[in-house]
Amino acid sequence: MRGLPIDKPTNPSKRKLGTIAIAIAAIGSMALIMDLLLTGYLKMYFTNDKPEGVCPIWDIQRPKSFIENNGSVVREILFDEKFRNGSAAKLSGMVQIDTQMRDNPPTVEDDPEYWSRFKKLHLYLETTFPEVYETADVVKINTYGLVFTWKGSDEKLKPLMLAAHQDVVPVQKDTLSDWTYPPFEGHYDGEYVWGRGSSDCKNVLSAIFEALALLKKNKFKPTRTIVLAFGMDEEVSGRLGAGHIAPYLEKTFGKNSMYAIVDEGAGMSIEPSTQRIFALPGTREKGYLDISTELITPGGHSSIPPEHTSIGIMAELEKLIEGDPYKAVFTPENPTFEFLQCLAVHGGDKLSWRLRKSILRSGYDKIANSYVIKYLTSNRVTKYLVQTSQAMDIIRGGEKNNALPESVQLLTNHRVAIESTIQEVTDRFVSRVHAVAKKFDLGLKVNGETVLESTSNGHFSVKDAGHSLEVAPKTPIGDKVWKELAGATRHVYEDAVFTNLTEPIIVAPAIMTGNTDTRYYWNLTHNIFRYTPVLAGFTDSRIHSVDERMGIDNHLRLIAFFYEYVQIVDEA
Ligand SMILES: *[C@@H]1O[C@H](CO)[C@@H](O)[C@H](O)[C@H]1NC(C)=O
Ligand SMILES: *[C@@H]1O[C@H](CO)[C@@H](O)[C@H](O)[C@H]1NC(C)=O
Ligand SMILES: *[C@@H]1O[C@H](CO)[C@@H](O)[C@H](O)[C@H]1NC(C)=O
Ligand SMILES: *[C@@H]1O[C@H](CO)[C@@H](O)[C@H](O)[C@H]1NC(C)=O
Ligand SMILES: [Zn+2]
Repeated sequence: MRGLPIDKPTNPSKRKLGTIAIAIAAIGSMALIMDLLLTGYLKMYFTNDKPEGVCPIWDIQRPKSFIENNGSVVREILFDEKFRNGSAAKLSGMVQIDTQMRDNPPTVEDDPEYWSRFKKLHLYLETTFPEVYETADVVKINTYGLVFTWKGSDEKLKPLMLAAHQDVVPVQKDTLSDWTYPPFEGHYDGEYVWGRGSSDCKNVLSAIFEALALLKKNKFKPTRTIVLAFGMDEEVSGRLGAGHIAPYLEKTFGKNSMYAIVDEGAGMSIEPSTQRIFALPGTREKGYLDISTELITPGGHSSIPPEHTSIGIMAELEKLIEGDPYKAVFTPENPTFEFLQCLAVHGGDKLSWRLRKSILRSGYDKIANSYVIKYLTSNRVTKYLVQTSQAMDIIRGGEKNNALPESVQLLTNHRVAIESTIQEVTDRFVSRVHAVAKKFDLGLKVNGETVLESTSNGHFSVKDAGHSLEVAPKTPIGDKVWKELAGATRHVYEDAVFTNLTEPIIVAPAIMTGNTDTRYYWNLTHNIFRYTPVLAGFTDSRIHSVDERMGIDNHLRLIAFFYEYVQIVDEA
């Protein structure tokens, strides 16, 4: 070991002592680092690759009818050419009815004409699926929301609720020429039905009706009541549709009255390195919060400006916000936790050894946990699965080149992490505005309440800009209701869709990135699944995009799923 280069040793013995001290310190710290590395490595090395109870394979569940008829109905749904063409035609007909929904639609009372196109869809449903209309009570909520109730023989059992929406996102006019087939033609080429709404989510709407019509035809009589709920403005927040349907259902059936709710949502995918199929029901949604911040200052001529105009002060706030992002957290509260554990146990070689081990240890080992966070946050798409996002999306201020701006407005959008709340995010936001207000001697109001008195320099006003939504409550995993959903998925896909799978399908919870109509249904049950079990990713289905389409193979699988799932739940 070399000593430090010292020009002229003044006191040799002192120098020697120094060298020894440094050597001891160096050896000591190296030993400590080695120890940490070694035990960390050893701990990881000895971490079980398939720990007991982590990511179980849920048992297949089959309805009695499947066993009795040897799967003939399910196989007819999946493989009969006549049925296939019929299903494609039904979905195509639905796509042909234009139900585009633009932002801020008028209320039904204010503009009946705007909403009347839904009459056409209702008429189509009634003539295409007469079995369902004959069997169930139909109630129209806020004129165009639809609720069907197919009464079960045992009124004590909580109803099963299936949901979808009738509206579709608008087609942007300047993209019309990019569409392979016109978006409302419902073109069917033998493989896909093309057009707006074909995969979001008239496919779900159609599949639910087809499954129920077929159940009726095959003499199924439910024990447990079945409720269907279809809003008509999901794409613009669902206030007029599901927002009215929810209180109606709560009044009719009561709080916590549903057995489970299955609405549109996440689907299935194939893990590339192992070809294993993952099914990912969405069990939670992040929260949502828009905060508007206004800064009001005295005006004046811009030839004699103060040192900081309101725009300059707002810029200071903006810098503070962006310089202070939220910390990522990774806990079992987040469905991503269980999903990653499943990937670690069954996911093959896509994950590195260290990442795999760290995921398995991340519930109790801090170092492992922060390693997983580092991995997730290294990519912008996965980062916000575990972190509150903040994005300044709108800024307005100033009127004229020679006048000082009297008002500047900033809108900041947040998607709230699973472990956080609207209050927590609001508080943090306000604390930054508070700091800027103090620095520039300004007043501060928060949601109308005075926090700092307004001064001659002006004041900030911070407000919830509307549409805020708490993080969705947790859907329980592993109970009876979950096992039926998972068991039905495995049953349809392993018994009928693919009979050649060598490994069982993995069913794991997932976070739902968008918000669906289920935001209004929280009071009805804890068992909410945002789930469309098809094997069609975005590149296949092109949801919300040009050339949206639905592969008919997948559509038939969804029909088979609902057909079997309803029976499995009914027999449970
Ligand atoms: C049941 O269906 C399978 C698959 O189509 C077929 O191979 C088998 O012979 C059928 N069994 C009976 C008893 O019909
Ligand atoms: C189903 O549709 C395809 C393509 O449109 C057609 O070629 C086929 O003859 C049809 N089959 C039946 C049984 O109708
Ligand atoms: C299993 O069958 C499907 C079609 O049913 C086919 O696309 C797939 O390649 C088969 N997989 C294997 C491993 O043979
Ligand atoms: C759920 O119930 C609570 C308490 O009764 C009520 O304040 C809330 O608005 C309800 N939520 C929804 C989405 O209906
Ligand atoms: Zn949708």
